[in-house]
Amino acid sequence: MPNPFNTEIDASTRYCAVYGHPIKHSASPAMQNAGIAALGLNWRYLAFEVHPDDLASAIAGAKAMKFLGLNLTVPHKLLAVGMVDIIDESAKRWGAVNTIRFETENSDGQWVPLARVPADAITEIRSHGFNTDADAITRSVQEDLKIELNGASILLLGAGGAGRVAALKLAAEGVKNLFLVNRTKTKAEEIAALIREEHPSVTVTVGYPKNSVDLLLNATSLGLRPSDASPLDASEFSVKDAGAVYDMIYRPAETPLLNAAKNAGCRTANGIGMLLYQGARALELWSEKPAPISIMRGALEKNVYQK
Ligand code: ATR
Repeated sequence: MPNPFNTEIDASTRYCAVYGHPIKHSASPAMQNAGIAALGLNWRYLAFEVHPDDLASAIAGAKAMKFLGLNLTVPHKLLAVGMVDIIDESAKRWGAVNTIRFETENSDGQWVPLARVPADAITEIRSHGFNTDADAITRSVQEDLKIELNGASILLLGAGGAGRVAALKLAAEGVKNLFLVNRTKTKAEEIAALIREEHPSVTVTVGYPKNSVDLLLNATSLGLRPSDASPLDASEFSVKDAGAVYDMIYRPAETPLLNAAKNAGCRTANGIGMLLYQGARALELWSEKPAPISIMRGALEKNVYQK
């Protein structure tokens, strides 16, 4: 197979990576390496299985080896907030870190991305935590489902790391009614209380809606495995009462929830767009170059639909 990169791996190759637990189904390496190759960079993007107990030492290891940046996925995004040297406004606002950029001080005393400085000229390094998920969620939902979020009624399933970011971002976008459902109800209640305080114009309910909604959004991990139960309790809410259904899961590309939604005539989208936009923004943060979105999308779709 021809090498898609302009360069072979050599002693100057720089690295980025994604950490997760589990990680082996991640499509991020395919997407990011396509983007990196298109930008003509002598970089590689790797994936590592990292247990949450080892997250701090794995971040320290990447820093010591002068990695340019990291992505964090399940279950690290909330944990990482307390593990980075500095938190960007985006990570502070949404309460989760999915992207770390390693930075060093230049001769003017400014902290700059590591990519700007040759590895052998780097002395001190800091880790800078960002959140690129929140914007990606709403961009993908709006683009893929043609939904106007301002004034919408939304049923959100899940109040883990992804659910929390989605709820806060949707509230900030001015949704009218937000229904939060989670196995551990207290987590949904905590998020609801936060939204009531910060966005009093949003009506937040913990529990299922009595009427139809514009969007049902799955932010639980249910659907990843064939044996998973549905994230939606059909005795409480029928999928046909949702105008559109978005599932943050992208592998499988069609979860049983999306399949049921399609059969019920709902507009549907999986989490490919979300993965794409959060990853594209991360690559921009590391490289300070516009991400080659269509190339990254092509690589992602190939990886998800042809595997
Ligand atoms: P992520 O970062 O992807 O959100 P997470 O923080 O581990 O990962 O959250 C997983 C979400 O899926 C949570 O909403 C979780 O519910 P709990 O908060 O009750 O843990 C939900 N989830 C996972 N397994 C579940 C199951 N078997 N039944 C119901 N909900 C489940």
